[in-house]
Amino acid sequence: MLREFRTQDWDSYRMDFRNPHQEIEPIEREMAVVDAALAVLHEAGILPHTRYDHGKLLALRQAVRENFEIPWTAITPRMQRLIYAINAIHQPRVMIAAGIFCGNTFICNAGAAVGPGACYRAERLIGVEIQPAEAERAQQNVRRLDPEGHAEVIAGDAVDVVTAFDGQIDLLYLDADGGPGGGKSIYLQILLAAYDKLAPGALVLAHNSVNAGPTIAPYLDFVRDPWRMSASVNIVIDPEGLEVSMR
Ligand SMILES: C[S@@+](CC[C@H](N)C(=O)[O-])C[C@H]1O[C@@H](n2cnc3c(N)ncnc32)[C@H](O)[C@@H]1O
Repeated sequence: MLREFRTQDWDSYRMDFRNPHQEIEPIEREMAVVDAALAVLHEAGILPHTRYDHGKLLALRQAVRENFEIPWTAITPRMQRLIYAINAIHQPRVMIAAGIFCGNTFICNAGAAVGPGACYRAERLIGVEIQPAEAERAQQNVRRLDPEGHAEVIAGDAVDVVTAFDGQIDLLYLDADGGPGGGKSIYLQILLAAYDKLAPGALVLAHNSVNAGPTIAPYLDFVRDPWRMSASVNIVIDPEGLEVSMR
């Protein structure tokens, strides 16, 4: 059975990728949508509760607006809030984000533990980006919010970085795009490299669960197989979507 949370307006709630800070809807509506999604994740046993600090999320949002260079992004305000809230609630000691481009998706996750949105202290926060120039840009963006350098950016292939990682992973965020032909099929390769390192109850978040096309199908089959992952819910609150799975 496909477990899913889908808003009626998921397809009409659209952003301008080159104007990521533009308000799309009243903040009360954004909060209500994300609260409803968190409640479904709680019901599925993926989150222990649904509480997070709304003021800290807004402080992170403001800091990103003032400090980040973002050429484009498909991360909607709803998605930013959802990813932040999942991290703030789950509080991963070790978080790895794969395919972070300019760092916006990385800080949605890591921003629960560094900068003005921080609500806990993590051990390792690792963002991986294969294009050296984007990794450099991500590093500079994140440093402005995290001058101590607690959140690390690695320029490299996420499959290699995860394979070489020695330790348990508490949250894995997937957003790498393998380019023409490959697309998001690389999600499954990264997950397989991480699988044995996922701590019990670890979360795996996959962006583009809705619009990634057929290349993501084998990944979705894997995480929705109860023998592989204990729970998985597709959160469809915008045209991109986020599959949230638990080991
Ligand atoms: C589509 S972008 C993510 C953008 C993000 N969804 C947003 O809206 O801000 C995907 C990124 O993954 C990177 N990438 C592709 N393959 C990768 C790999 N094997 N390891 C790490 N990064 C990778 C690409 O260079 C690109 O910057």
